[in-house]
Amino acid sequence: MKSQFTLADFQQRLIEIFTNADQPVYAQVASVDDHGLPQLRTVHLRYWQQLDCLCFNSNTKAPKWRQLQRDSHIAGCYYDGQRDLQLRWEANVDLIDNETSNTDHTALLDHMWRITRAAVRTVYWKDHQPQQFDIQQRCPTFATVMFRPHCWDILEVSEDYLNSCRTLFIRSDKAWQTKRVSVLHGKEI
Ligand SMILES: Cc1cc2nc3c(=O)[nH]c(=O)nc-3n(C[C@H](O)[C@H](O)[C@H](O)COP(=O)(O)O)c2cc1C
Repeated sequence: MKSQFTLADFQQRLIEIFTNADQPVYAQVASVDDHGLPQLRTVHLRYWQQLDCLCFNSNTKAPKWRQLQRDSHIAGCYYDGQRDLQLRWEANVDLIDNETSNTDHTALLDHMWRITRAAVRTVYWKDHQPQQFDIQQRCPTFATVMFRPHCWDILEVSEDYLNSCRTLFIRSDKAWQTKRVSVLHGKEI
């Protein structure tokens, strides 16, 4: 199998993957803890067109929020079983919480709150202020982690594996570089 992906194809494909409401993207995202060790969890990743970024929600009391405040690096991984495609990426995050004065960021937070399941919104409020709450109102501990990866590592798996291929897209300054690499060891081919 020859790679289907040029950078432009890939960017389009990514948007399709991250905006398909029938197939939510539950990906694993790693942060770095106080001891320099990786910490991993599943998050629901979404694409936000207005800022051309990926994002996921976090509680501001969660360990990952503290870790990302200290060190903005993340690495992520998602296996798309329908397309037999592994996506891996690296990024630096921006953290958006209730204190933001940026109107684009407030719009993103509001949107993320609205599309979050009512049960999850209830859990946020019950933790923050159980006596009296309205889940239409955004909870102050609800926050969003946004990022634009600077490196993508795409493994396209063919049915027989023999023709699988792996492509790296790496951004340096503002330009993207494309590298076809070995599926086994990542060295350029
Ligand atoms: C399918 C699935 C989706 C999840 N999505 C999120 C999410 O979008 N945001 C989030 O904070 N936690 C999400 N969680 C829970 C996290 O995996 C994790 O348990 C929790 O956020 C605490 O993580 P931390 O201790 O690393 O901060 C999800 C869990 C599962 C199983």
